[in-house]
Amino acid sequence: MEKNNHFDLISYLELRTQRIEKILETYFPKAKGYEERVISASKYSLLAGGKRFRPILCLAGCEVVGGDWERILLFAAGLECLHTYSLIHDDLPCMDDDDLRRGKPSCHKAFDPATAILAGDGLQALAFEFFTHPELVKKVNKTRLLKAIYWVSKAIGLRGMVGGQMVDLLMEGKKGNPKVLKWIHLHKTVCFMEASLLSGALLGGAQSKELRVLSSYGKNLGFAFQIVDDLLDIIGDEKKIGKKTFSDVKKQKLTYPALFGLEKTKALASKHIQKAIESLKFFGNRGEPLKALANFIINRISTSSKSIQNEQVSL
Ligand code: IPE
Ligand code: IPE
Ligand code: MG
Ligand code: MG
Ligand code: MG
Repeated sequence: MEKNNHFDLISYLELRTQRIEKILETYFPKAKGYEERVISASKYSLLAGGKRFRPILCLAGCEVVGGDWERILLFAAGLECLHTYSLIHDDLPCMDDDDLRRGKPSCHKAFDPATAILAGDGLQALAFEFFTHPELVKKVNKTRLLKAIYWVSKAIGLRGMVGGQMVDLLMEGKKGNPKVLKWIHLHKTVCFMEASLLSGALLGGAQSKELRVLSSYGKNLGFAFQIVDDLLDIIGDEKKIGKKTFSDVKKQKLTYPALFGLEKTKALASKHIQKAIESLKFFGNRGEPLKALANFIINRISTSSKSIQNEQVSL
């Protein structure tokens, strides 16, 4: 298990993951009417595990600026609903056509593609129900909450994640170049990850200088995250990452390993992590959790096949 100097990342993550999952379970609609099938399908994917990295980033963003993370758990849980929706759709036969997700059959396999589309749609809407939930609204500054929702909406939309997913698909089987690849990563992954962190910081009372520093950290972390994800498609352990390896290779996806090879790709991921950690100097000791999270991302490569730790269960 991972220790970062005196900072115990494992306990940090365990506590937050438990709290996020409790919120997801408690506030998830109960399946009792004719719509039971779609509720079961979305719950199946949402509660299948996963690192809960975006909500954790949101809570960490709140904490690093001196906010109380326990007050914004509903917001963080909403981010996980958005992320899970994106994964369900990403796996569909008409998208990446992946049958394994979070160590279990993908939503369209466990149910069917139409149900999976609706489950994703339902989770996207549920996220906004969480973001505007009266129990959250009464605990946070409303102007900041509106701005956080605005940032997240932009990050996941046509000029964010959805746009990125479009170009990811358009580039399948094409030659591509570093510029378009970076554009894809920025839009499909980085924007939402950065917005997850910044929304938490905003809700925690961040000043503009703090937001600028976190934006730089979040971007570098997001790029490293997707580059490492691309690497794990080749060097990862299926049991540990909970999805099939060589899926990108089969689909001739435009990825960092495809363009640069494994070694250069690893070096690029490390460079982004170093830059992310560099920007945390601004926060002094308060930046420790974010530093440990950045190190965790890069360590996924080296621990990909030998770690005893199963990241699908807990970090
Ligand atoms: C997978 O995200 C999709 C990418 C943007 C690479 P995660 O690696 O965070 O997946 P889970 O949530 O842990 O399953
Ligand atoms: C997915 O990227 C990004 C989003 C879901 C927005 P990938 O297609 O690389 O994610 P995995 O590898 O299937 O998790
Ligand atoms: Mg994809
Ligand atoms: Mg995929
Ligand atoms: Mg991938």
